[in-house]
Amino acid sequence: MGNVLCCCSEPVDFDGEVDLYHFDLLRAVGKGAFGKVRVVQHKRSHKMYALKYIEKSKCIKQKAVANIIQERRLLEEIDHPFVVNLRYAFQDDENCYFVLDLMLGGDLRFHLDRLKRIPEDTVRFWTAELSSALSYMHKQRIVHRDLKPDNILLDELGHVHITDFNVAIHYSERRLHTSVAGSMAYMAPEVIGQTGYTWCVDWWSLGVVVWELLFRKRPFDGHTADKMKSAITKGPIRFPTRVDEYCSVEAQDFLHGLLDRNYKTRLGCRKGRGVRDIRSHPWFASMDWESLENKEIQPPYVPDRDKANFDVSHELDEFLMVEKPLTHSKRKKANRDLDKMKPEMRQLEEQFTVYDFSKHRRKSYYPHNQPIASNVHETDTEHSEVIQSTTNTLQPTATIIARSRACTPSPDYDGSGRESPPTLPAGDTVVYSTTDAAS
Ligand SMILES: Nc1ncnc2c1ncn2[C@@H]1O[C@H](COP(=O)(O)OP(=O)(O)O)[C@@H](O)[C@H]1O
Ligand SMILES: [Mg+2]
Repeated sequence: MGNVLCCCSEPVDFDGEVDLYHFDLLRAVGKGAFGKVRVVQHKRSHKMYALKYIEKSKCIKQKAVANIIQERRLLEEIDHPFVVNLRYAFQDDENCYFVLDLMLGGDLRFHLDRLKRIPEDTVRFWTAELSSALSYMHKQRIVHRDLKPDNILLDELGHVHITDFNVAIHYSERRLHTSVAGSMAYMAPEVIGQTGYTWCVDWWSLGVVVWELLFRKRPFDGHTADKMKSAITKGPIRFPTRVDEYCSVEAQDFLHGLLDRNYKTRLGCRKGRGVRDIRSHPWFASMDWESLENKEIQPPYVPDRDKANFDVSHELDEFLMVEKPLTHSKRKKANRDLDKMKPEMRQLEEQFTVYDFSKHRRKSYYPHNQPIASNVHETDTEHSEVIQSTTNTLQPTATIIARSRACTPSPDYDGSGRESPPTLPAGDTVVYSTTDAAS
C-alpha cells in the first residue's frame, strides 16, 4: 500500500524509512561548508522543503563528524516558529541529509548585499523575532554560537528564522565552554578570550547583527584575525557619524546594552532578568510580544516572490559540472557492514540516525547527552589551526579538543537566574557538546 509509482515510474516505499527517493530534487538555493542546500518536494505530500546535504567524505576530511551528529541531535530537540525546523534526517552511502522548513525569502546576507538601507522598523521587527528564538533555545540549554546574517533566513512572508546548528552546543552554567567556534566578527569577547562562556554569547552576536543591519557595516573589523580580536576585546565601540539619521536613540541604547563586554551586565544576560530586559527595553515599547510570537504581526519587509532570493550561481556550478549533481542512489549492502567501515564512517552510520517528524516525537538529548567522541587522535590536535576567517564560520577543527576542556566557572557566575543545572559527578570531564566533546 505504501508503494507508489511516481513520475519516473520508480516504486517508492512511503511506509518504509524515509530516504532520498521520497523527494523530487529541485533547484539549488544555498551552499554550505560541506554541501549544498536545494529545494525538494515530498512525492506523497507534495510539500516543499529545503534539503541540506553533507558529503560524508568531506566532513570526515575536515574532522567535522561530531558536529554533524550534534547538529542532527540538536535539531531534533528544537521546534519554534522562528527557527528553521528539522522535518526529516537520513543518510545514504555518500551523504547525510537534513530536510528542513523551506525559506524562500533568502538569507539576510543576501538582502544586506542588495538593499541600500534597511529601515529601523524592519530591523526592530526581525530583532524581536530573533530574540524570541534565542530565548527559546537558551531555555532548551542550547547556545547557537554562530548567529550572523548568513544564518538568518526569511520565509516568503518576511518572518526571520535561525538556521545552521553546526557549532551549536548544550551549555551548563557549571562548566563553561572555552572552545573557539563561530564566526570571528560576531564572536563575543569571552569566546575569543577563552575565559569561559555560556548562552550570553548569542546576545552579543545579536548586537553585532543588529549593528550591521542598521549601519551596513560591523562594529568590529580588522584586516587580520589579531586585529579583529583586539577590536572585539578592547577596541572602542563607536557609532557611525550622523548615527541619528540611521536610527533612534532607543536603538542605540539597545545596541550598547547588547555589546557590553561584561556578560553579567549585558542586555539579556542579567541575573534574575534575562530576556525580560530585552522585552521591556524602550526600543520595543510598542511591541506586542504575544502577537509577534503567534506570527500575527505583518512583517514590514516582504521579500520579492517573483525573484530568486538566493545566489543563482549555486545552480550554475552543477550545470557547468563544476560540482557533482545530487542523484538518488540505492545503498550498497557492503557499505552497511559496520565491521568493515572506517571508524568515522561507522560513527556517522550509527549516530546520524533517521528522523521523521510525522512518526517521531521530538526528544531532548540533554542532560543525558552522550558526548560524541571525536575520532581524531589528541596528538593530531595540538598543532592544527582553526580556519582564520573573520566572517566565515570557523569550523571547529581538531584544535577544539585541546581548547574545549570545560573550565571551572567563577563562583558567582549566573547570568540567568534559571534553575540550577543537574549536578555533575565530581571530576567529570563531560562537556555538553559534541564540538567540544573529547573521549
Ligand atoms: N531551510 C532553508 N531554506 C532555504 N535556504 C536555506 C535553508 N537552509 C539553508 N539555506 C541556504 O543555504 C546556506 C547554507 O546553509 P547552512 O545551514 O547555513 O549551512 P552551513 O552549515 O554549511 O553554513 C544558507 O546561508 C542559506 O542561504
Ligand atoms: Mg551557515
